[in-house]
Amino acid sequence: MLKRSLFLLGFTNILSLSAVLARVFTITNRCPLPVTLYVSGGRQGTLNADGGTTQREFPEDWSGYIYTDANGGNGEKSERVARAGFYGPNDYYYIVVDPYRANTGISIIPKAPVHDGFCGPISVDTGTFSSAYQTTPFPDGFPPVTSNSPSSPLYSCPGTDIEYEVIFCPAGVFPRTGAVAIHPNGNTSKCLDVRGSIFANGTPVQIYDCNGTAAQKWTINASTTKIVLAGTEFCLDAGSNPGNNVGMKIWRCYDDLPAQAWLYTTDNRIGLYNTDQCLDLTDGSTQNSNRVQTYKCTNLNTNQFWTL
Ligand SMILES: *[C@@H]1O[C@H](CO)[C@@H](O)[C@H](O)[C@H]1NC(C)=O
Ligand SMILES: *[C@@H]1O[C@H](CO)[C@@H](O)[C@H](O)[C@H]1NC(C)=O
Ligand SMILES: *[C@@H]1O[C@H](CO)[C@@H](O)[C@H](O)[C@H]1NC(C)=O
Repeated sequence: MLKRSLFLLGFTNILSLSAVLARVFTITNRCPLPVTLYVSGGRQGTLNADGGTTQREFPEDWSGYIYTDANGGNGEKSERVARAGFYGPNDYYYIVVDPYRANTGISIIPKAPVHDGFCGPISVDTGTFSSAYQTTPFPDGFPPVTSNSPSSPLYSCPGTDIEYEVIFCPAGVFPRTGAVAIHPNGNTSKCLDVRGSIFANGTPVQIYDCNGTAAQKWTINASTTKIVLAGTEFCLDAGSNPGNNVGMKIWRCYDDLPAQAWLYTTDNRIGLYNTDQCLDLTDGSTQNSNRVQTYKCTNLNTNQFWTL
């Protein structure tokens, strides 16, 4: 009997000790693809698409980042990535994004009552970055704790045993952040795509099933413009001898380069400026890997309609 109560006592102590010293994070992936979870530079396995979830326990004073490299994010270089940040000693939490292109939306939700500006949920998603640090300036040192809540984009949830929820893609889609997919003739399941996601001079540009990856995100303006592979230095390029049946590729962007000067018209054609050539769906085929080309512009040609 004595033995048994001693055992119970010991067990209870261990429980309360770990409850005081550990902080529980529930991490959920609502992105449409599986994502690899990273915690401060270390891979922590994969989360399934559309709701895959896991729990991690860190010490109460743990500081670091939770993020994923999905959709072209690079956490080590702080490029194209959105990260959930924690500074344990002061109970601070915050989000850092690359404002040019965040790979996922991200939310941090403390599991505690919201009071006096403390413990509120924060989120960035398609284009709303106001509650986040942008990659520059970076949170560089943290202010001391006071009785007031810190000012956005820094947040605080004081107290022990506070659990946090972190959500990738809270909106259920990868963010666009100014970049768009380009579809052949209104077919939103097919996208203009950089073959094999190889971002290098000369990689063919083709049609492929839309999959939300960086190989399918472009910035395009309704005027004379470069068509930029978002977040990269590469542009849609028609080559130095534009003409019928010339296959499209990406090439490093240059200002004032005729091969990269496109005109996105109000009737949804993408013409090569100062030529009679239009971006054209080769043979009218939306088969995966069909390389797109330029061809003489003709009116009402559905192979030459491109929608965003
Ligand atoms: C898009 O193209 C694919 C492949 O050709 C086809 O199966 C699908 O029906 C098309 N969708 C629309 C909305 O046209
Ligand atoms: C997305 O499409 C590209 C085509 O460039 C393909 O290489 C890649 O495997 C696809 N990714 C997924 C996750 O389907
Ligand atoms: C599109 O226009 C916006 C606003 O004028 C500009 O900031 C952006 O650089 C343009 N994008 C391209 C690809 O030309």
